[in-house]
Amino acid sequence: MEHPPSAAAAADPYHTALATFDELLAHAQAAGEPEPTAMTLATVRDGRPHARIVLLKGADTRGFRFFTNYTSAKAADLDANAWAALCFHWKRLRDGVQVRVEGRVEKLPDADSDAYFATRPRGSQLGAWASLQSQPLPDPARFEQRYAQAQAQYAHGPVPRPSHWGGYLVVPDRIEFWYGAQFRLHERHVYARDAAGVWTCGMLYP
Ligand SMILES: Cc1cc2nc3c(=O)[nH]c(=O)nc-3n(C[C@H](O)[C@H](O)[C@H](O)COP(=O)(O)O)c2cc1C
Repeated sequence: MEHPPSAAAAADPYHTALATFDELLAHAQAAGEPEPTAMTLATVRDGRPHARIVLLKGADTRGFRFFTNYTSAKAADLDANAWAALCFHWKRLRDGVQVRVEGRVEKLPDADSDAYFATRPRGSQLGAWASLQSQPLPDPARFEQRYAQAQAQYAHGPVPRPSHWGGYLVVPDRIEFWYGAQFRLHERHVYARDAAGVWTCGMLYP
């Protein structure tokens, strides 16, 4: 999670927001949050929202990354409507911290997905071949069978990344930090990019 260190960059609200995010995530990890990188991912298809948890696998000036199956329900949502919202909750920080990220979503370049896939445990790599994520599973034995097939197929070498598995990048145009406080006197700091691409920041009533 690296950001350009220049003084100009440091003064830009977007860089300030990313630096704040990094700092909070590091504190959440240090505070022993059980799943600090877990985030709700909300997508919308035909006007109907769908939400599920995925894991953040990096955030930098390009955006917030996660990995999944490109034929899953969430991928179908994103094919139809490339906008998403992310939501983190870190209960152990202060009186609770929430971070909300919204933006357009794009697929990561194959090279990035290859690089991340190569770092995954072999069992997860085989699982990516075996799972038809979000498709009906008529019989759990069918999944075990597909896993065994993948094991046999790649028994003698590395497991390549399936082309149906890879990463997405949420390119933010809005990042909100919500800091819980006693008596509901919460603080909300919003960073947003306008149509001209200029980032500004401000506060909201809780
Ligand atoms: C803590 C946690 C982490 C998860 N991380 C991921 C992830 O990084 N990628 C993923 O595809 N699914 C992940 N899942 C499973 C998703 O929540 C979801 O069940 C799955 O992606 C199918 O969603 P869909 O049918 O809406 O596409 C995770 C679930 C939990 C509870």
